[in-house]
Amino acid sequence: MDVERVQTLALRGLNELPAKFIRPTHEQPENSKALEGLTVPVISLAKRHDIVVKEVAEAASEWGFFLITDHGIPASLIEQLQKVGKEFFTLPQEKKEAYANDPANGKFDGYGTKMTKNLDEKVEWIDYFFHITAPPSKVNYEIWPKNPPSYREVNEEYSRAMLRVTDKLLELLSESLGLDKKVLKSHVGGDEIELEMKINMYPPCPQPQLALGVEPHTDMSALTLLVSNDVPGLQLWKDGNWVSVNYLTKAGAIFVHIGDQMEVLSNGKYKSVLHRSLVNKERLRMSWAVFVAPPHEAVIGPLPELLDEQNPAKYSTKTYAEYRHRKFNKIPQ
Ligand code: OGA
Ligand code: NI
Repeated sequence: MDVERVQTLALRGLNELPAKFIRPTHEQPENSKALEGLTVPVISLAKRHDIVVKEVAEAASEWGFFLITDHGIPASLIEQLQKVGKEFFTLPQEKKEAYANDPANGKFDGYGTKMTKNLDEKVEWIDYFFHITAPPSKVNYEIWPKNPPSYREVNEEYSRAMLRVTDKLLELLSESLGLDKKVLKSHVGGDEIELEMKINMYPPCPQPQLALGVEPHTDMSALTLLVSNDVPGLQLWKDGNWVSVNYLTKAGAIFVHIGDQMEVLSNGKYKSVLHRSLVNKERLRMSWAVFVAPPHEAVIGPLPELLDEQNPAKYSTKTYAEYRHRKFNKIPQ
């Protein structure tokens, strides 16, 4: 399969962006600037338990997003994760192509670049690598990068660390909804909960003011746990404006997105955050998103404990497989 990679295009040193990357006028960053002066919530998990629960409730309902610090993940592990991911993307092109995915034929895992389906469609300035890291029964090591050689070990360790953070967050979110701390995890699949790693690679872009790295979207996961290199770019939609996530002062923080499944489970109390990412003229941006998702057969709907006559269900109940199918095909949920 012949796919033109964004990284290859960027290396050609274009002065002008090819038309398929030029966003409609209203979407262009220069016409939809972020609001200055607002800062996103930062929650230290080292604070007193009841304070953390309250801060999580506020951030999840008002923003659908927060940064966590004092999460217990060593900075050295995050550095290694970033190092092996970067090394993969600096391999010669033909080495990377050996891992090419093929979403049109149902093969989502591997090295990918979105392609246009028609002439009007716009694409994002990004290449990525996607693979499942948990539970063990769903992991396909064949598709994980074999180069650099430590890629697998580092990503296995990072996956274990993300499972610990997931458990902690699901407990805090359960408590903040007034539920027993084990409730959310059991609804999101218990030990079958899936972790999916997506490495986002945004090469320097000749006309960043006309393009987007990722277009506005909500994640269909329950949660997304993201770290990035030190190049900013992520923006959140809050009360009618874009807000930039400025995390330069918060090195080592993990970004937590509330995803669609959490919005549904909480019956809308927690918001699946609309977000996008911008690209940069000089610098390459990379981010590592871990999607925390239910297994496909899990049935997700508003938690019965949260419903009564005053609070009827605002969302329908369906399997995660059905939710995915509708989201991919833009069918109303
Ligand atoms: C995503 C995403 C944003 C970023 O991968 O779903 O929203 O900061 N990424 O790279
Ligand atoms: Ni996202």
